[in-house]
Amino acid sequence: MSEPDLAFPPGFRWGVATAAYQIEGAWDADGKGPSNWDTRAHRPGGLAGGATGDVACDHYHRFAEDLDLMAGLGVDSYRFSVSWPRVQPAGRGRWNSRGVGFYDRLVDRLLDLRIDPMVTVYHWDHPQPIEDAGGWADRDTAARFADYAEGLAVRLGDRVRHWITLNEPLSVMHAEMTGPPGDPVRRHGLRVAHHLLLGHGLAVPRLRARVPDAEIGISLNLAGTTPASERPQDNTAAARADAYEDRLFLDPLLRGDYPHLDGGPVIEADAADRAIIAAPLDFLGVNWYAPARIAASPSGVFGYTRVEIPGASTNLLGWPVVPHGFGALLTWLRANYPDLPPIQVTENGYPGLDEPDVTGSVQDLRRIAYLRGCLHEVRAALDAGSDIRGYHVWSLLDNLEWEHGYRPRFGLVHVDFATLARTPKASYRWYRQFLSGQRRDG
Ligand code: NOJ
Repeated sequence: MSEPDLAFPPGFRWGVATAAYQIEGAWDADGKGPSNWDTRAHRPGGLAGGATGDVACDHYHRFAEDLDLMAGLGVDSYRFSVSWPRVQPAGRGRWNSRGVGFYDRLVDRLLDLRIDPMVTVYHWDHPQPIEDAGGWADRDTAARFADYAEGLAVRLGDRVRHWITLNEPLSVMHAEMTGPPGDPVRRHGLRVAHHLLLGHGLAVPRLRARVPDAEIGISLNLAGTTPASERPQDNTAAARADAYEDRLFLDPLLRGDYPHLDGGPVIEADAADRAIIAAPLDFLGVNWYAPARIAASPSGVFGYTRVEIPGASTNLLGWPVVPHGFGALLTWLRANYPDLPPIQVTENGYPGLDEPDVTGSVQDLRRIAYLRGCLHEVRAALDAGSDIRGYHVWSLLDNLEWEHGYRPRFGLVHVDFATLARTPKASYRWYRQFLSGQRRDG
C-alpha cells in the first residue's frame, strides 16, 4: 500500500516520539535522583493499577534494541526527552555524568543509524528537590529550568540540533489544578502556566548561545474548539476555552500577550516577562489527538466543559475520534497567527487495548485508520498553504500513560510488561510501508 494520494514533499521529517519517564525505567540507577513522578507513583493510590515508572519499558537498558526497531521503521527523526533528575539530581549544581552518559550513547547510536535526535528538555519529570521547593508554582523553577536547559545544550549540543523546551505546558497546569474548583485552584494553575512559559523564554537564548545552528521550539497540546450549540452561553464558553487552553500559550509566545477576556488579560504579567516569553521560535511543536466541543458549565473551573461530539466514536481514553478536527486546527492556526513559525507535528497517536490475538499478532486497525486520517489532514493543510515540516507518531512503544498506568497502549510496537518482549504491531508494518513509499515517490 504505497498511498499515492499521501505523497509528502521531499525533506519532510518522519519520526516517532517518546518521553523519559514513560519508557526508561531504571528509576534509581547510576546516580539518578527521584522525580516528582517517582514520588507520585510510589504513593499509595498514586497511578492507576499501582503502576510506577520504576521499570516501564526498561528502555534505559534496552535502548539498542529499541533503536533497531526504530531504524527498521525507516524514520529519520526521533523525539525523546531527557530525565532532568537523571542528569542533574538536585535540580541545580552538580551534573551526574553517568546519567548524561546514557543520553550520549543514545544520541551517538541515533546518528549512526542516520536518525536525527529531537530533544525535549522537559517532559514533566523534574527532580524531587525542585518539587519540594514548590515546583512550577515557584518562580525560581523557571531559572533552574533555564540553567538545566543550557547544561544539556553544553553536553549534547554538538550533536543535537532540534530542541523542544517544554512538552504540553497546558497538561502540566491541569495536573496541578487539583482541589475544589474556585479562585485558589484557578490562580495556582495560572501561576504555574506563567512560570512554565517564563522558563521556556529564559531557556531559548541559553540554548541558542550554546548551539548556534539550533532549531528551537515548544510542544503544545492544541485541540481546536467549537461551541456545542449556537446558544450565546456556549459561544462564550468556547471563547473562554480558547483563552484558557489553546491561546493561553500561543498568544504570549506568538503575539507577546496573554489572551484577553472580560476586558483584561487572563494572566497579568509585566512587559519584561512578556518579552522574555515571546522569544522567537524556529518551529511550533503541535501535539494533536482530538478536537474540543465546548458547552457552558458553571461547575467547570473556568466556566466551561468538554462535551461529546455527536456521531463520533470515542477511543479507550474517551477522546472523540475525529481526524478532520486536525485539519480544522491547522487552518485555524494559519488564519489566526500571521507570525506562526513552521510546524512540527511532535505527537499524534491512538490509545487502544491492543491485545495480541491467538497467533500473537496485534491487529491495531483502528490506530492505522486514525493515523491515515490525520495524515490526510496534514497533507491537505500543506496544500492549503500551511508550513508543516515534520510528523511524529506517539509512540514507538506501549508505555506508561501517566495517571492511567499501562492499560492504554499507544505504541507501534507492543510491549509485554511481564517479559518486556517487544512485538511490532500491524501499525508498525503500515508506517514502515508508508515511509518506504514516501522515499520511493519523493
Ligand atoms: C501527551 C503527552 O505528551 C504524552 O506524554 C502522552 O503519553 C500522550 N500525549 C498521550 O496521552
